[in-house]
Amino acid sequence: MLAPDLMARARDKLWEGAPPGLIREDPDSWTGPFTKEQTSEETSNMRRDYHWNYREPGNLDWMIRLLATDPNVWHMAEQLLGEGQLQTPKGIRGIYCIMPKAKAAPLPYGCHVDAHPFHLGVVGYIDHVAPDGGGFNVWPGSHKRFYYDYHSQYANEPTEAYKEDVARVNKRPRVDCHGGPGDIVFWHHRIGHSAGQNLTRQIRQAVLYDFRKLDLDETQKEPPCPDMWRDWSEAVRNL
Ligand SMILES: [Fe+2]
Repeated sequence: MLAPDLMARARDKLWEGAPPGLIREDPDSWTGPFTKEQTSEETSNMRRDYHWNYREPGNLDWMIRLLATDPNVWHMAEQLLGEGQLQTPKGIRGIYCIMPKAKAAPLPYGCHVDAHPFHLGVVGYIDHVAPDGGGFNVWPGSHKRFYYDYHSQYANEPTEAYKEDVARVNKRPRVDCHGGPGDIVFWHHRIGHSAGQNLTRQIRQAVLYDFRKLDLDETQKEPPCPDMWRDWSEAVRNL
C-alpha cells in the first residue's frame, strides 16, 4: 500500500504534462490513441498511440518517496534482494499511463523482456486498474526460461534461443495484474511481460521503479548462474 497523500499528489502532477485536448474532468477526452497534435517523442513526456510516459517528475523527492523508498516497498525489496544491498534511488521511471481504447477489440498480446540492467521491478498503481484496464501483464514462470536466454545475467545480450522462447511463451496464458490504488506488482528482471490494453474508461496510471543491487556493475556481465537465485536474499534462496 502506497501513501494515499503521495498518490493523490502524483495523480494531480500528471495533468501538468497533459497535451491540449486532454481534460481531467472529461473522461470522453481520455480515449486513445493520441492525435498527431497530442503525440510527443520527447523522452521526458512521451505520448504515442495509447502510451503516455510522463518521466519528468520521476526525479522529484516525493516521487521517490511515493514508490522506491516507501517503507513497505523498500522492505519488501530488501527481503527479496538482501538487507543493505540496494542502490540508493536517484529517481523513479515516472508516471506511466495507458489510455482507454474506444472499442473492445484487443490485439493479440506479445511478451518482451526489458533491456536495461536491474534486479527487481516494481509497478505501483496510483489509481484503480480494473481487469483489462491496462494493468501490467506477466507470463508466469517465464523468468526461469528467459534468465538462461542471455549471455549474461543482467546485460542485454540475448542468445538465439530468446526469440524462439518469446514465441513459445506467447502461446501460454498471461496474467493481467489488475488492482487498486497503492497495489504493487513486484517482478523478476527477466520475466516476460507486456503493457496491458485498456478496455475501460479509466486512464491506467502507474509509477515504475527498478531496484538494483550495489554489486550490479560486477555481476551484470557474468553468465547466468546454475542457481538463478544466487544474487537474491538468503530467504529467497531457502524457499
Ligand atoms: Fe517492459
